[in-house]
Amino acid sequence: MRRWMIAGNWKMNKNIEESRKLAKDIVDFSKKVESGDIVIAPPFTALKEVYEVTRGSKVKLAAQNCHFEEKGAYTGEVSLPMLKDVGCTHVIIGHSERRKYFSESDNIVNKKIKATLKWEVAPILCVGETEEERDTGITEYVVGTQIKKALKGIEFSEKLVIAYEPVWAIGTGKNATPQQAQEVHKFIRDVLRSIYGEKGGNLLILYGGSVTPDNIGDLISMEDVDGVLVGGASLKSDSFIAIIEKTLELK
Ligand code: PGA
Repeated sequence: MRRWMIAGNWKMNKNIEESRKLAKDIVDFSKKVESGDIVIAPPFTALKEVYEVTRGSKVKLAAQNCHFEEKGAYTGEVSLPMLKDVGCTHVIIGHSERRKYFSESDNIVNKKIKATLKWEVAPILCVGETEEERDTGITEYVVGTQIKKALKGIEFSEKLVIAYEPVWAIGTGKNATPQQAQEVHKFIRDVLRSIYGEKGGNLLILYGGSVTPDNIGDLISMEDVDGVLVGGASLKSDSFIAIIEKTLELK
């Protein structure tokens, strides 16, 4: 049995006080949770304070990005040892917003994954096709290529998590249907098996893109959907907790 994971990506939202409050609500709720992983990714500026709230609880802390170098003249960047220093156990890598607005290439994503595993931080690797790519029928090609390039030369690690996030579903209110998600998740699992053998098939694969308390039930019921990466609905404790509750009921 694969465990489940619910991750909240707060993106560029929330000041320190708001972050602390949201984290506290999630930590309080998490006391009832025995299985699975709850991960939250606040903005960099709130990581330290959120760590103080989550420390010793079930809730794990993620950064939304990192640099692959350990230190040096990289103005504006944050390294993995720095993220470990503030208590991060996870980091989101290759989110489509980073690929689109910050020209993050598969090659950079690959270097970042290498660095995260070296520092024993779990990478949540995001992949996904655009609407145009789906319409032209090349979803599997696009997603398969992103994964193979991201994982090139990287040894197997149980820490590796993949998030399938169709670009057309992110922040649009238009989620993939459970069947569409299942199809791609199954494909991703096969790609992971082809790279790492049977154990590759046991890695966690999350779905992301307009997940809400209303659609989580159908998505999480799919065999190859091990959890979700939530943006908008992770910004309020009510909706994020409702998503976890539904997952607890169904997984
Ligand atoms: P969304 O974002 O839930 O707001 O669509 C998901 C994500 O970007 O991870």
